[in-house]
Amino acid sequence: MKNVYVLLVVVLVATVATKKGWKLQQRQRCKYDKSAWSECDTATNTVSRVLTLKSGEEGCQETQNQTITCDRFERLQAWKVKKAESRREWQEKKQQRKEQKQEMKENKQLVKMQLKRCRYDHSDWSECDQATNTVTRNFTLSEGEQGCEQSHTITITCDKLNRIQAWKAKKVDLTRVMTLRDGEEEECEPTIMVTISCTKFERIQQWKARKNERKNEKKENKMFIKEQKNIWKENKKIVKEQRRLGCSFDVTFSECDPTTNMVSKSYIPTIDDDDSCANRSFEYSCDLHERLMEKKRKRQDKRANRKINRKEFRQQRLLI
Ligand SMILES: *[C@@H]1O[C@H](CO)[C@@H](O)[C@H](O)[C@H]1NC(C)=O
Ligand SMILES: *[C@@H]1O[C@H](CO)[C@@H](O)[C@H](O)[C@H]1NC(C)=O
Ligand SMILES: *[C@@H]1O[C@H](CO)[C@@H](O)[C@H](O)[C@H]1NC(C)=O
Repeated sequence: MKNVYVLLVVVLVATVATKKGWKLQQRQRCKYDKSAWSECDTATNTVSRVLTLKSGEEGCQETQNQTITCDRFERLQAWKVKKAESRREWQEKKQQRKEQKQEMKENKQLVKMQLKRCRYDHSDWSECDQATNTVTRNFTLSEGEQGCEQSHTITITCDKLNRIQAWKAKKVDLTRVMTLRDGEEEECEPTIMVTISCTKFERIQQWKARKNERKNEKKENKMFIKEQKNIWKENKKIVKEQRRLGCSFDVTFSECDPTTNMVSKSYIPTIDDDDSCANRSFEYSCDLHERLMEKKRKRQDKRANRKINRKEFRQQRLLI
């Protein structure tokens, strides 16, 4: 019984879902003219309106009756009013901002025009007044028409002046002279002056440092690989010599140690009675190990191929 109930719920949910999907599709494909909402029908507590098809594809319903409860209608109306209100507010604010911007622009132009008409000499900045944390600078009219202020004073905080001066110092350019080392005297200037801003100079220095770092890293890496190869070769040589003298070894490799990135190779004598055949174990980088193993595989493949070719050749010779 319980199972039947669950099944019923599932079917119901599925039906509602597809109905919703269909409605959404209808709304996208079918466009309707909407009539005004009816008065609230107090008997059924509903309001309704009629939708008549304006445009749409095949399968659109010609007319539809939309019915919602009066409560929902009220809420919808209230929400619409609120939305319109907030939209109006937003537009008002936008207009205000626009006007403000325009005003500021006009003001700036006025000041600019004034500055063009009225030219001032200025004193040095005063010492920083510790009590108020401000500095001042006096301006006196040097040339200008009527209506220009005779003098004025600008006051800013000491911090701001410091910031400005730091910024100006940064903007100062650097120059260096380059003298001709090699080239045709007639075509090349004997000396040239190259000027760049300090910020650019700093950037170049940083770039150079990074480049140098990378170069050193590469160099160290190369040296490390060389060292590793030497260790490997030396051990191989010793083992070869021992083998020549009659030793035989089991060769084993450890797993690559992920923290040190090293692998260890061990030669363990198969016959224990001879003291001259010693255990030998040494470490080298996993990268080198990988490469050596790859090389070995290729060598073995080649050898196997050669063997097969020889065999085929022999068989063909027998057939002739
Ligand atoms: C819509 O409602 C009107 C009036 O209530 C009725 O005459 C009409 O048949 C209804 N149409 C549909 C499609 O239900
Ligand atoms: C600016 O002018 C006032 C009044 O003439 C004077 O007291 C002050 O020292 C001047 N400040 C500077 C920085 O020259
Ligand atoms: C050689 O290695 C094997 C295995 O690790 C070990 O059992 C044996 O004692 C070692 N012999 C010597 C002489 O170090």
